[in-house]
Amino acid sequence: MPKKQDKRELTEVFQSSDKIYAPSKKIIKEANVPDYEKTLKNAAKNPLKFWEEAAMDLTWFKPWEKTFDDKKKPFYKWFVGGKCNLAYNALDRHVGTEIENKLAIIFEDENGTEKKYTYKELYFEVNKLVNALRGYGVKKGDRVAIYMPNIPEISMAMLACAKIGAMHSVVYAGFSSQALADRINDARAKVIFTADGSFRRGKVIDLKSIVDEAIKQTKTIKRVIVVKNNKQPIKFNKKLDVWFDDFIKGQPTEAKAAKMDAEDPAFVLYTSGTTSKPKGIVHVHGGYPVGVLRTIKWVFDLKGDEVFWCTADPGWITGHSYIIYGPLLAGITTVQYEGMPDMPEPDRIWKVVEKYNVNVLYTAPTLIRAMMKYGAKWPQMHAMPSLRILGSVGEPINPEAWKWYHKYVGKGKCPVMDTWWQTETGMNMITPLPSAPLKAGSACKPFPGIIADVVDKKGKKVPVGKGGFLVIRNQWPSMIRTIFNNPERYIKTYWSEVKGVFFTGDVAFKDKDGYFWIQGRTDDVLKVAGHRIGTAEVESSFVSHPAVVEAGVIGVPDPVKGEVIKAFLILNAKAVASDELKIEIIKHVRHNLGPVAVIKEVEFVDKLPKTRSGKIMRRVLKAKELGLPLGDTSSLV
Ligand code: PRX
Repeated sequence: MPKKQDKRELTEVFQSSDKIYAPSKKIIKEANVPDYEKTLKNAAKNPLKFWEEAAMDLTWFKPWEKTFDDKKKPFYKWFVGGKCNLAYNALDRHVGTEIENKLAIIFEDENGTEKKYTYKELYFEVNKLVNALRGYGVKKGDRVAIYMPNIPEISMAMLACAKIGAMHSVVYAGFSSQALADRINDARAKVIFTADGSFRRGKVIDLKSIVDEAIKQTKTIKRVIVVKNNKQPIKFNKKLDVWFDDFIKGQPTEAKAAKMDAEDPAFVLYTSGTTSKPKGIVHVHGGYPVGVLRTIKWVFDLKGDEVFWCTADPGWITGHSYIIYGPLLAGITTVQYEGMPDMPEPDRIWKVVEKYNVNVLYTAPTLIRAMMKYGAKWPQMHAMPSLRILGSVGEPINPEAWKWYHKYVGKGKCPVMDTWWQTETGMNMITPLPSAPLKAGSACKPFPGIIADVVDKKGKKVPVGKGGFLVIRNQWPSMIRTIFNNPERYIKTYWSEVKGVFFTGDVAFKDKDGYFWIQGRTDDVLKVAGHRIGTAEVESSFVSHPAVVEAGVIGVPDPVKGEVIKAFLILNAKAVASDELKIEIIKHVRHNLGPVAVIKEVEFVDKLPKTRSGKIMRRVLKAKELGLPLGDTSSLV
């Protein structure tokens, strides 16, 4: 039962979502983009010019010849002929300027251990790693897997790969050995970075043994580089393993960045889709940083001396774009915190904000809701005067959470930027800017230069207030270039569902003011605590248990995590249904997929609703579970 005080807080903040939160005069006066509507209009007149101007914020070894090329659509190209390097822009170019002595990374772990790196120090560390990797034979075009906690070394590893022109493939360290092995195999990674372990809720999570398990199922890994993070004992394989510190020992502190084509791939990041095979989303050296830098500067209103804390994990796109690359491209300070936000007490997150004078806090609705449960007294204990802007990402933020965040964390003064985007888009796509009038629970309007819409299956605009498919009508520099090793799937997933537009897989509606309200996914992708996971992936993991012959998985609403998993299972004839078996199967899936798979319930059934072609109708399972109308069941057998 929530405490009395919490109940009052909730009623207080529960108001109509139509209310406009107008920006204060002070915010407008100080904003990087003071005139919101005019900026939108100007960018819409000529998006290419808008992005050309944004690209000037980067350093180019050779200027581009053509801004945009759609000759081979949907394999669009940006800044064709330009030469650049993602890591050079994030790091090297700041050295020799006044930024070099500024803090690039502030790190703290759950136990309170602190580490700080200036830009110059980070540059030296990355260069040592670049030299060591080059010495080992890692070169342009190779793939390097990274399975690490949120520690400075993960940033170094990513930057070093980018500097060489090798593609990093970061796998979230909450994934299982199987999921890691699948991703290593798809990318054919040569080297993997990991750590002995990580800290989580006072416990030590053993990462190295997960990597050991994974690489048994792979053939390409030739080296495992291990950061000594929490000094727990590991099995050390002398042929394969090397400690990170030994790997870089004695290496020169200078290294040249590879001159990359703007369209050369910078990294691959796997994400879930409709099939059980994850998609390797490819981003490039030129366009990706253009989009990331422009959005971080405008959405979060950076002035140059900010401390930016994005609470995501580097293993997701939010971490790539807004923990590592975005802040470093902008030459500001990023915070990396390894641990839980409520350890040892529910105000750890607010303490970190105060301790490091965080100016921008970018987090997820699931975290806000978890903090709401503890009660407003925790953020109320902290004045957090440094905070200027708040951000939200990963799933729809419910108006109550938005208002709580605005009132108790931002003290009613910090605008909340609800940023809608995806692994595929690379950057914030539908989001307000601080000078925009806000509505609690809406991601507002598309970022300047982006044309988004809500349409039906035929691509026709749907009327105001009516739900439809969220699509992007034009192209943007930081967009996905392809699916690694699978260009056909790229075409099919994003450019074939609705003709001529980028299909996001989300449903949304637009209100009378042109504000977007994102409703969730149309496809079989779940959002569990903001983490993207495919129903097909989960089902195939259930079926890999010997007692299970068929599985249908749905997401059911959860007040904190947004969605959690419910599975309907058909057992084989020999298996005997029991609670013990349920527990065993859940354990199997958790082991298989990792802790990202939060399973609420398992139900044994005799039949699953299917179409004539044999596809499980998860929609029907979900409607029955939630007591909703079944909808069109004409294709149901
Ligand atoms: O459904 C949308 C939801 O997250 C999906 C993308 O997930 P992922 O690629 O893991 O990237 C997450 C972080 C960018 C989207 O298709 N989503 C993301 N942000 C929002 C959101 N849904 C509603 N509102 C948001 N602000």
